[in-house]
Amino acid sequence: MDIKTYTFEAHGDDRGQLVSLEEMKNIPFDIKRVYYMYKTVGSAVRGHHAHKSLEQILICVHGSCRIHLDDGRETAEVLLDKPYVGLYIANNMWREMYDFSEDAVLMVLASQLYDESDYIRDYDEFKRFVGAG
Ligand code: TYD
Repeated sequence: MDIKTYTFEAHGDDRGQLVSLEEMKNIPFDIKRVYYMYKTVGSAVRGHHAHKSLEQILICVHGSCRIHLDDGRETAEVLLDKPYVGLYIANNMWREMYDFSEDAVLMVLASQLYDESDYIRDYDEFKRFVGAG
């Protein structure tokens, strides 16, 4: 599977680091929504869904977590543990987020506002939707 990660430029000086994220510049879509997860329980698995049209970039801005990706044919696991690395997740991709460190903060940039009708929350339905069922 083709995993697309972005390594963002960090503006570092003797005060620390700064990363800037801009739509259609270092983020490949218009950013309509930002959300983040924190105090995530280490044993918890989040996500467990796909989106029909939404695109996202996931950045673990603090701590670490793992992302399971499944396009209906192949799967992949990605470790996110750097605040300057973003994982691009296209539409029609099943994702699960797990193995959160205690201090993890997972930030998500999304191309659309929250819309429950864009979600596919049933795995068998996802397989059928992508023609792999
Ligand atoms: P949920 O879809 O379960 O999160 P995850 O995919 O990380 O497992 O969302 C948790 C709750 O938050 C649920 O009640 C829907 C709500 N929510 C919003 O209101 N807006 C949002 O942008 C998102 C992502 C979730």
